[in-house]
Amino acid sequence: MRDPKRVAILVSGRGSNMRALVEQAKNYEVVLVASNKPQAAGLEWAKERGIETWSLESNGVDRETYDRRLSTTLEGRGVGTIALAGFMRIVSPWFVEQWAGRILNIHPSLLPKYRGLDTHARAIAAGDTVSGCSVHVVTEELDAGLVLGQAEVPIRSDDTPETLETRVLAAEHQLYPKILNEFVLR
Ligand code: GRF
Repeated sequence: MRDPKRVAILVSGRGSNMRALVEQAKNYEVVLVASNKPQAAGLEWAKERGIETWSLESNGVDRETYDRRLSTTLEGRGVGTIALAGFMRIVSPWFVEQWAGRILNIHPSLLPKYRGLDTHARAIAAGDTVSGCSVHVVTEELDAGLVLGQAEVPIRSDDTPETLETRVLAAEHQLYPKILNEFVLR
């Protein structure tokens, strides 16, 4: 049985948002951290805290075959909400349909601006004075689902993509847990 308060977090890399989601969990329990990269740093951190982890390299595996295996794992843990946190892999339409309305993602821009990659460099190049992050529902179209919440940060005149990323990331770590704590009660 799917329980909305049983959360799986999907990561591919350092997992700083995953850590924030674990540390600021109030209304949900993180029951699984899963990754398409077995060497993802976030997995070690989760393991050390006694959270179950699962990983399977996605390179060379057909997208839907991969997603079916992932989905079976999630079903087996009674997961009801999936939080993508730096999961650098586009999920299949099949997966989105299976978990319709139950997958969230954090994106480092003020959507609908700058879907996709290199958001900070693009915001600076455009001369924007404000950037930020968005938590949204995952749909078939990349970074295009309903936005559940956003946080703004200023862009300074001497910002590089790296300095802006650091400032946006700090905002992500506040926003994502806040939205997820609300979302699981719906
Ligand atoms: C974050 O910038 C997030 O917005 C984007 O990927 C990055 C993940 O960073 N989707 P981390 O692995 O959570 O540190």
